Amino acid sequence: MRDTRCALEIRWSKLPRLCVVLLAGFAICSSASAQVVPAQLTIDVNKIVTPISPMLYGLMTEEINHSYDGGLYGELIQNRTFRSTWEGEPPWDLVRHGNAVAARSLDRSTGPSKALSYSMKLSVTTASATDEAGLTNPGYWGYGLRPDTTYNGSLYACVESAEVGPITVKLVNNATGAVQAQTQVSVEPGPWKQYVYKLTTGKISPSKDNHLELVVRHPGTVWLQFVSLMQPTFKGRPNGNRIDLMERMAEMHPKFLRLPGGNYLEGSTVATRFDWKKTLGPVVDRAGHEGPWGYWSTDGFGLLEFLEWCEDLKVEPVLAVYAGYSLRGTHVAVGKDLEPFVQDALDEVEYVTGDVTTKWGAERARNGHPAPFPLHYLEVGNEDYLDKSGSYPARYAQFAEALHQRYPQYKLISTDGNSEYETKVKSDISDEHYYKSPADMMDLVHHYDTASRTGPKIFVGEWATRSGSPTPNFGDALGDAAWMTSMERNSDLIIMASYAPLLVNVSPGGMEWPTDLIGFDAATTYASPSYWAQSLFAGHLGDGTAQSSIQGENHRFFYSATVDTKGKVLHLKLVNASNVAQPMVVSLAGIQGAHTAKVTSLHGATFEATNTMDKPDEIHPVTTSVAVSGAAWKHTVPALTIEVVDVPF
Ligand code: AHR
Repeated sequence: MRDTRCALEIRWSKLPRLCVVLLAGFAICSSASAQVVPAQLTIDVNKIVTPISPMLYGLMTEEINHSYDGGLYGELIQNRTFRSTWEGEPPWDLVRHGNAVAARSLDRSTGPSKALSYSMKLSVTTASATDEAGLTNPGYWGYGLRPDTTYNGSLYACVESAEVGPITVKLVNNATGAVQAQTQVSVEPGPWKQYVYKLTTGKISPSKDNHLELVVRHPGTVWLQFVSLMQPTFKGRPNGNRIDLMERMAEMHPKFLRLPGGNYLEGSTVATRFDWKKTLGPVVDRAGHEGPWGYWSTDGFGLLEFLEWCEDLKVEPVLAVYAGYSLRGTHVAVGKDLEPFVQDALDEVEYVTGDVTTKWGAERARNGHPAPFPLHYLEVGNEDYLDKSGSYPARYAQFAEALHQRYPQYKLISTDGNSEYETKVKSDISDEHYYKSPADMMDLVHHYDTASRTGPKIFVGEWATRSGSPTPNFGDALGDAAWMTSMERNSDLIIMASYAPLLVNVSPGGMEWPTDLIGFDAATTYASPSYWAQSLFAGHLGDGTAQSSIQGENHRFFYSATVDTKGKVLHLKLVNASNVAQPMVVSLAGIQGAHTAKVTSLHGATFEATNTMDKPDEIHPVTTSVAVSGAAWKHTVPALTIEVVDVPF
């Protein structure tokens, strides 16, 4: 439900201090109708009351909303391994130009690897240079092509006779049929072989409305498997990530990446969990698996790719290990049955951190990354409070004993924590999740102010204010900003936090979970208001919360006063979620004289105002400067506005 606000929401207790101007006609809900007595905000920048965790803001994603396949993962071809359903091998189709005659069928008797022991058989009986025949693929809701760009392709093929000739691969505009790029791949008779190719565009207009064709010009039979086309990737990594999405994430100033999920870690069943050992090595040896969000995961985005993603963003992995519980409610019995899973977790940590003399460190080196990755935090499971069998404390204990014994240096995160549930496990850190409406999120902002400081530290591993779809609206951004003021204020307890989900492919059918931070399609991305709020907060974090107090503010006003004690800057975050401007008098102890402060503000006309693919910049940060005097700085935060004020001292 939306949070409706008007001037009358100003507390009754404050009424005598209000100078309310009632306009004719009693237009009492207009922000112009009331003059609000300034709130008194007092801050002492030299008195740090709590530290800010340097790891506070991080990222959490998983394979949901086509975050990886059809998203961050650079692969452009959908179903590159010809997986079959009752419909055939969607979205592949036959293409027969002119009078070409051809058929396709799935051949389960031959393929290029053990993992891909089947293939697509293309049988062409009539074809020519003008009447080509073959297969077509629409990509993940198109191919986002750019001018003067090279796309790296590869395919596995097996042919009976050279007479079938080369395979032509081309990218074709859906509306005009214009060929945007093409090349010929010469294939030779013999066993399965990988062929690589490149497609380079010329001076085309950027567009996502393209499809791929893979055709021959002579009769013959071709078996195909693992047909791949990678877009340019971040830092040019082979099998790497889409550049624009990586740039969006970098702009969020993250410090860690919680991986690999979420529900994606658990899987719907034990068999379909994120089985990290099956995601290593040459991609042709990865069979993929059924993800929990209703679509197949290629596992091209495997454990090493997750770690390299961390490396590229210069963030640390927060590694979640599968703890024996899957979403449909099955759990592995503690004791002997759980032992292989505990061993898998130990091996996984060795894969991430072991040097090349260890078994799994050597495997990582064989996979192309000899250097170990940094690691400090290990999470055991995900949302195990949902395991109604009550088996988590015992499962956690079995994992914790083995992990602590072998890796005493790492902090363990448990996942039965949530204020709405009773936690039984006393770990180093408890992972708590909050998905709330704007009203509920704003009502939660004092939740941690009085929470115990003697128990585990808190990792808010998933949180989001949710009302907008597919991406948060400005009301959500206000809820998120209010929540972030609370996390910063309580960062002595809350050491890490990650919004979820991060990504959504907004193409029809791309989304499973509404309200995701960054929207994208095959060609472009856009940042939601909540994305900007988070990017602003994380980019102005500081290392301590200053002593402060406020009086006379409206019910929907929130703030955080953090200080960069070395750089000598006060980062003042002011969140006015009311539709009434909030005047304030700010007393800044420890700041002498006049200073010029930088103000970065985010404003929406309504709670519903938002950014979309068509209007990506409706709500965006605007930077100005103001003169600030330490003694009594008069400042007004406009209605429905988030401000970050940097005051040097
Ligand atoms: O973020 C979406 C889902 O919400 C996560 O997969 C799960 O952990 C939570 O329930």
